[in-house]
Amino acid sequence: MGFYSRYVLPGIIDVAMRNEECARLRAAWIRRARGDVLEVGIGSGLNLPFYSPAVRSVCGVDPSAELQRRARERAAGRPFPVKLFQQSAEEPLPVPEASVDTVVVTWTLCSIPDPRRALERIRRALKADGRLIFLEHGRAPDAAVAAWQDRLTPLWRRIGGGCHLNRPVDQLVAAAGFRMLELQAGYLPGPRPMTYTFQGLAEPRQPGLEL
Ligand SMILES: C[S@@+](CC[C@H](N)C(=O)[O-])C[C@H]1O[C@@H](n2cnc3c(N)ncnc32)[C@H](O)[C@@H]1O
Repeated sequence: MGFYSRYVLPGIIDVAMRNEECARLRAAWIRRARGDVLEVGIGSGLNLPFYSPAVRSVCGVDPSAELQRRARERAAGRPFPVKLFQQSAEEPLPVPEASVDTVVVTWTLCSIPDPRRALERIRRALKADGRLIFLEHGRAPDAAVAAWQDRLTPLWRRIGGGCHLNRPVDQLVAAAGFRMLELQAGYLPGPRPMTYTFQGLAEPRQPGLEL
């Protein structure tokens, strides 16, 4: 990992992810987390102020040491314990299987090299009645926008810490064994290839209960 990825990019991410639109979506969705929470790609901890008193604990994983340093500062003084682990979500997660009430993943599935593997680990970490809350940008339904997303992604990945513009987030979540309970998708303000956003709530599908 070079100087840019280690020190420059985390600062850019921290500032970029503090924008008003992200804050609006965080306020709408993160308060719905309950119990023991696993936050995947916790970054600089920008969701932490939005958790409600219904949260018992937060465990955050993220490979970036610099972002975790900022998350640790934001965790100080929260009314729930926050544990941070420096790792990829593709690795075994630091929680027992079927132990988590809510998994939160925001603007992160775009950057995980193997999102399928990460989502499978997330599903296994959730209790049977657990919930996945996700806010993610991804592949637009408009062919012209999607074509731009495909064109731009190779360059965007290089400057954006592995970020893909063109991942079909809803399909990835469903394919990893989740049932969608709520899903909203649409463009946020800004350039359309970067802003098509999926907001959703999903639960792990129970084996044998569905066709
Ligand atoms: C755009 S930032 C979003 C951070 C945070 N979730 C937020 O909403 O502000 C993307 C995050 O994904 C993290 N990330 C990248 N690769 C990852 C991986 N393999 N596993 C888990 N997180 C990863 C980055 O370190 C970064 O914190």
